[in-house]
Amino acid sequence: ESYDLLVINGLVVTASDIGHFDIAIKDEKIALLAPKGSLAELAAKRVIDAEGGYVMPGGVDAHVHLDEPPLFGKGRSADNYETGTLYLLSKTIRALNARKRQEPDQPSAAAQPQSSVTFAPQSKSDPSLLSVLQQTHVKANQSYTDYSFHLLVSNPTPDVLSEFSALRERGISSLKIYMTYEALQLRDDQILDVLLEARKNGITTMIHAENGDVLTWMTEQLESRELYAPKYHATSRPQIVETEATNRAIALSSIIDTPILIVHVSSPSAAAHIRHAQTKGLPIYAETCPQYLFLTRSDLDKPGFEGAKCVCSPPPREGSEDHEAIWRGLSNGTFTILSSDHCPFVYNDGEVGKKSVLSERYPEGRFRYIPNGCPGVETRLPLVLCEGEKRLGLSKFVEVTSTNAAKLYGLYPKKGTILAGLSDADLCIWYPEGKLEPWRVNNGQLHHNVDYTPYEGREVGNWPRWTILRGKVMWARDEGGVVGEKGFGEFVERGGSRMAGSRGRGRGDWEVQGF
Ligand code: URP
Ligand code: ZN
Ligand code: ZN
Ligand code: ZN
Repeated sequence: ESYDLLVINGLVVTASDIGHFDIAIKDEKIALLAPKGSLAELAAKRVIDAEGGYVMPGGVDAHVHLDEPPLFGKGRSADNYETGTLYLLSKTIRALNARKRQEPDQPSAAAQPQSSVTFAPQSKSDPSLLSVLQQTHVKANQSYTDYSFHLLVSNPTPDVLSEFSALRERGISSLKIYMTYEALQLRDDQILDVLLEARKNGITTMIHAENGDVLTWMTEQLESRELYAPKYHATSRPQIVETEATNRAIALSSIIDTPILIVHVSSPSAAAHIRHAQTKGLPIYAETCPQYLFLTRSDLDKPGFEGAKCVCSPPPREGSEDHEAIWRGLSNGTFTILSSDHCPFVYNDGEVGKKSVLSERYPEGRFRYIPNGCPGVETRLPLVLCEGEKRLGLSKFVEVTSTNAAKLYGLYPKKGTILAGLSDADLCIWYPEGKLEPWRVNNGQLHHNVDYTPYEGREVGNWPRWTILRGKVMWARDEGGVVGEKGFGEFVERGGSRMAGSRGRGRGDWEVQGF
């Protein structure tokens, strides 16, 4: 028997185990996993010697915005499914990257993460989630990496709610709803409608927890004092705006008795409410993002309009104590997953980008018109591994960047681990700091379609040497970068969450039976 690929001599790291193993891959799957030295003699088309390296399951980024209409204020997503899934970079990629602008068909990078879950966004005027799903499938067929979608529900009419079971049949087991943004915000009764229908269908609901009414009021107050600069975005969304909404989301979930995931948590006090709920045994899950570990409010306070580059919601918090609290939440399990919330907008784009909000009257723009969101799909893993190797350990890093996302969103064990006979052969191979040249983040080397990165100039010790998707090498640092193909990425039908669900009482914290 001949294998397609052997990966030998590496230190294999999963969320549960670390050890020296050899891996044999056949027909896109992990076929064998055996102690180091035992598979080296097998016949195979290709052998990768990962001596000295870390071999991890492919990353799963469960929060990526691609090719979306302008729902978060002005501005359309700068990345489509092609550019947004072209994920790798290295010093050697420079020349290729320069060519990308004229030859968009030329693949210039490979996949890291190897799978992402993006959004299929319903506008309030879209009457059907199934047609939104259909349209998103068409957009996604150029992906380099595997993908699935969360349905973004902005108008939960009875007809829309009645489509949830059909979504499950089509492999969609999660939704996102919003407590803010005019175009998306739901009232509490609408949230209850969604949660109830989600529970009936075994769907996990992601909630953007910020109090939209309060932050709109605060924005008006700031504007009435002529405070328009990007830094006031953070002033308009203090921690209490996030904390109140988080607490309310937990209460709504507990009434229905259904699992929710609070997305992109930035506030230590919101995290404390989440931890309290988890301690009571409620199925409350939470996500954080690199921007809440590495950026602060002062990044919004740069000269001129520069601060707009770091405007996201919730905003980066005050300083290193907040970052410490978020790291602590990752290591103690308050945060289930770490995603990028890649939400790409072009800065220097006269028509739709962030500059469009500048005028003679408002030379520093008005923060209320800055589209919310930062790019980060390519920098997520290297940034977090660099700091997180010591703070979290390697297994916890794999758990929060891959395994838990796969478990929570119904991709496990196909994605998120390295189980022989069960898992796709998705691997990311790294070297410990010092073994390969360190890398300084430079937007010119990134492959998204955005003209900046919030992390410009930051040094990261690690950069993947190989990434492998379903047995195919997508990125090879030693071979000049990308070797993967556009369109190789496949839609992955998802099952239900493998994490704890409702407490099974048939009702939540509401003394009425039978709903
Ligand atoms: O500022 C952010 N997070 N923009 C992306 C949209 C969202 O709410 O996730
Ligand atoms: Zn959000
Ligand atoms: Zn988002
Ligand atoms: Zn480092």
